Amino acid sequence: MADHAYPPPQAVAESLLAFWAEAGIDSMYLDEAVDRIAAGAVPIPRPAQAARPATAPSRPASVPDARAPAPPEALAQARALAAAAKTLEELAAAIEAFEGCPLKFEGAATKAVFSRGAPSAPVMVVGEGPGAEEDARGQPFVGRAGRLLDKMVAAAGLQERVFITNTVFWRPPGNRTPTPAEQAVCAPFVERAIELVQPRLLLLLGGASAKSMLQKDEGILALRGRWFEWRSADGGLELPAMPTLHPAFLLRQPAAKKKAWSDLVSLVQRLDRPDRPH
Ligand code: URA
Repeated sequence: MADHAYPPPQAVAESLLAFWAEAGIDSMYLDEAVDRIAAGAVPIPRPAQAARPATAPSRPASVPDARAPAPPEALAQARALAAAAKTLEELAAAIEAFEGCPLKFEGAATKAVFSRGAPSAPVMVVGEGPGAEEDARGQPFVGRAGRLLDKMVAAAGLQERVFITNTVFWRPPGNRTPTPAEQAVCAPFVERAIELVQPRLLLLLGGASAKSMLQKDEGILALRGRWFEWRSADGGLELPAMPTLHPAFLLRQPAAKKKAWSDLVSLVQRLDRPDRPH
């Protein structure tokens, strides 16, 4: 048997944790409880803080901590800015001007990452949040996961029929999952994008997107492949939405591609159903 380093190298540990988190595992237990006080717990050394890129704007004192619930003023400002946008270009500018999402001040490049794709697409794809390449290029899903997404979309015949965005518009530091509060302050912009694009169906990539868009607690493996009803905050707009596996997860777990493909096939069948468009 091969020897495994313990603790595992950081990259391996991160990949494994990301896999478990994506699969909906949020707690782990040993068989026996460990009394760490009696054992004289040794503090875990913290790595030195990475330097903030020179491009990151400085954070105004009024901007809340990422872990705090979304403050009502930031939500109100997001709703007002989003509602005033009459076109996707105006919406992009409104997101750019918005200062209520803490992610904007946590190391992301200055430009918000909003969308790409057909402006009146019948399918809106909502991912989690920009990664490093998206942050650098200002467009969602242009890294490895994005290239896989493009292949899947093309294979399903949806190439010119998708509009792609995320639940948040700035890269979370270290590619961590955006917090519910960060997603909540960005949600009015996602909702306005849905109103302007008027897609017929939503495809939600990964657990963080599905949970935030549908207010669900289950993991993605329980949610994927099922139809849910997405509702706007005021309940005035409803759309069928299907969660599926995130392409970044599929890169780590290629065997799961079969499941994602079957979800895409269901989506296309519903989209092209002649009798009932929804
Ligand atoms: N992952 C996402 O969820 N969104 C992106 O834009 C890129 C990677």
